[in-house]
Amino acid sequence: MEGSLLKGKKGIIFGALNEKSIAWQVALKSWQQGALLVLTNSPVAVRMGSINELAEITGSKIITADATKMEDIDALLTESMKVFGGQFDFILHSIGMSPNVRKDIPYEQTSYENMLKTFDISALSFHRILQTAYKLDSIREWGSVVALSYVAAQRTLSGYNDMGDAKALLESIARSFGYIYGRDRKVRINTISQSPTPTTAGSGIHGFESLIDFSERMSPLGNATAEECADYCVALFSDLTRKVTMQNLYHDGGFSSMGMSLKAIEQYKKSFDGCDCDDK
Ligand SMILES: NC(=O)c1ccc[n+]([C@@H]2O[C@H](COP(=O)([O-])OP(=O)(O)OC[C@H]3O[C@@H](n4cnc5c(N)ncnc54)[C@H](O)[C@@H]3O)[C@@H](O)[C@H]2O)c1
Repeated sequence: MEGSLLKGKKGIIFGALNEKSIAWQVALKSWQQGALLVLTNSPVAVRMGSINELAEITGSKIITADATKMEDIDALLTESMKVFGGQFDFILHSIGMSPNVRKDIPYEQTSYENMLKTFDISALSFHRILQTAYKLDSIREWGSVVALSYVAAQRTLSGYNDMGDAKALLESIARSFGYIYGRDRKVRINTISQSPTPTTAGSGIHGFESLIDFSERMSPLGNATAEECADYCVALFSDLTRKVTMQNLYHDGGFSSMGMSLKAIEQYKKSFDGCDCDDK
């Protein structure tokens, strides 16, 4: 779907690694709606991923930045303002990584070095970006910042590990900075809590296939895809949502409001077929 919802708007998209990335779809849809973009990712992701392809399609510049390095974020925003010829309108934070998830180290056996890395990459990076944008006054009045979250910030989901804590921190930063940025510059800050989505980061979660199946059965509208998430991001970058701020917005087909669905009960019952277990 092409249109002009973001015509004349400029924005930075963090986190497009490959075609499966949610950020990739957000970049594509934003571009299709008329936005001018800067794409960014860590040095290793730019080397190993396919962001160059996306930059070619969307006519965007790529500026490499490790989101855990203050000097990289400063250089990225300064350089982006040069590319855009001044202030810009939106930012997507689509960054997540946990060494514990990656190495399959259970939550109860974490090393604090790993845990701090999870928080630094997945949540503090958001504060770092907002603080730098605020300092450089990079975002135009009525601009919009969105970060991607997951319901594990509110509910415990087996296997999501320390990423649940990181998402709780991410959502809290959106509220804390949302107050300051809204009050001082009329910039809005929200998180979108997205369904499990088959991406590189998502597939790293222990038991991801079962999680995605369970979530699909539990959600009255089914899981939301990366493309659908991108549509929601475009709406939040657009002028149609100017007074929405400091919110965690569920984009999950209804999952977060469910307790049990018929489809999930039916599947659950099947696991007891032919079983003579006592706790049946
Ligand atoms: N996939 C899901 O099931 C799901 C569900 C809800 C929320 N999310 C969130 O969506 C966001 C995007 O993830 P995705 O699923 O598209 O996976 P993805 O693997 O495509 O994206 C994660 C991105 O984080 C980037 N990144 C990691 N370390 C970085 C660093 N130090 N500096 C800069 N960038 C860094 C990676 O290079 C990658 O591009 C994440 O915040 C993730 O937690 C994902």
